Amino acid sequence: MNAVSAASSKPSTPSATAAPKSAGLEGIIAGQTAVGAVTQGQLLYRGYEIHDLAQNATFEEVAHVLLVGHKPSAAELGAFKAEIVAERALPELVIDTLRKTARLPNTVPMDTLRSAVSLLAHLDPDCQDVSPAANLRKSKRLLAKIATIIGHMQNVIDGRDLVKPDPSLDHAANLLWMMTGKKPTSEQARVLDVSLILYAEHDFNASTFTARTIAGTLSDLHGAVTGAIAALKGPLHGGANEMAMEMLKEIMKDVGEAGIGTAKVDQWMDKAFAEKRKLMGFGHRVYKNGDHRAPILHKLGRGIAEKDTGNPGGHPALAWFRLGEQVQKIMLDKKQIHPNVDFPCGLTYFTMGIPVPQYTPIFVASRITGWAAHVMEQHANNRLIRPIAEYVGRPQTKW
Ligand code: SDX
Repeated sequence: MNAVSAASSKPSTPSATAAPKSAGLEGIIAGQTAVGAVTQGQLLYRGYEIHDLAQNATFEEVAHVLLVGHKPSAAELGAFKAEIVAERALPELVIDTLRKTARLPNTVPMDTLRSAVSLLAHLDPDCQDVSPAANLRKSKRLLAKIATIIGHMQNVIDGRDLVKPDPSLDHAANLLWMMTGKKPTSEQARVLDVSLILYAEHDFNASTFTARTIAGTLSDLHGAVTGAIAALKGPLHGGANEMAMEMLKEIMKDVGEAGIGTAKVDQWMDKAFAEKRKLMGFGHRVYKNGDHRAPILHKLGRGIAEKDTGNPGGHPALAWFRLGEQVQKIMLDKKQIHPNVDFPCGLTYFTMGIPVPQYTPIFVASRITGWAAHVMEQHANNRLIRPIAEYVGRPQTKW
């Protein structure tokens, strides 16, 4: 066979004008995965349905399912948890860097977290190894250390001594402990734990796809996670949990607590619609009839708010939920748009007294499991991710 016929026997790449195209890759199947399934009807992590997991599993069990690939036995879970606890401490270089960067004037916690994860790569003995065993070891280290980065960073921001990880506490409770220096109630710990379960995996969302694209060049896990953190930060993606709460604060400031349940909120929303404002925490690229995760978290967060005597942001926690519920109703009635998981997340974390700029880093503390599972899947059956573009620039022009 000569070179010409060898070349012509291969399937040809379609020309950019003939190929299927979709702005933002909407509706395009860009690959296969066995990690998670996101459909209008249900959300599955390796075959387990999200309501089932939120009701019956712990975050560590879900992390095992995602990273190792199956539901752990009691012995496997014990060993997995012990490994995570043993990996919680941060290298001195990372702690030093947190101290130097977390309070810089133009820095937000997602930036500090992104830099810290990138820095961890330099110190990881497996950094350049993309084998399945090395990837799993690195995934567990990152799972453990990201929570500590968030905790220590918040301590630095608050100007207090670093709160060391508590080996007797599970992932969620330990995260709250390290951030605040206060032992959470079992209800607070469980609500955060469920929020981490809900955030853990969501097939080819923007940050996971970023991680897979980086991994698809056979680059390393820390690099893929660093890129994924940058993608998650944006307000159209994970950053929406912070922005949703900032929007509710803005509405509360404008209408006042007495305005909740009145037409004042409708007027605020009508103005936002007229200005074509994106309402944060609403809408979804895949879910058009509602995000399966949102009602689960809303119910749990409201449960805390109903008992809460505190005054987050100067108003009772329940008042914030009542405002959020009115905003949801108006959005549904007037725009037929449902809240996504980030809307109840904002309300729930606010009720729990978590500083708003840490909401998206906490999303990372969970989604690291989904990202790592996808990176391992990509490395195990790799094909470079490289779509084609339709050229709409200047026609050929002589120089
Ligand atoms: C996450 O992909 C994932 O799986 C992500 C995630 C995960 O777990 O990984 O689920 C997590 O990122 C949740 C999404 C968080 N983002 C936000 O809450 C930001 C606000 N929402 C949007 O901007 C928007 O809904 C997106 C970005 C989430 C989805 O956007 P799409 O699919 O590109 O939809 P679109 O912008 O084309 O909207 C279609 C219509 C438009 O109206 P028309 O121009 O057709 O008249 O719906 C309107 C939009 O203007 N619309 C909104 C809106 N969301 C959609 N209008 C006002 N506020 C909104 N939030």
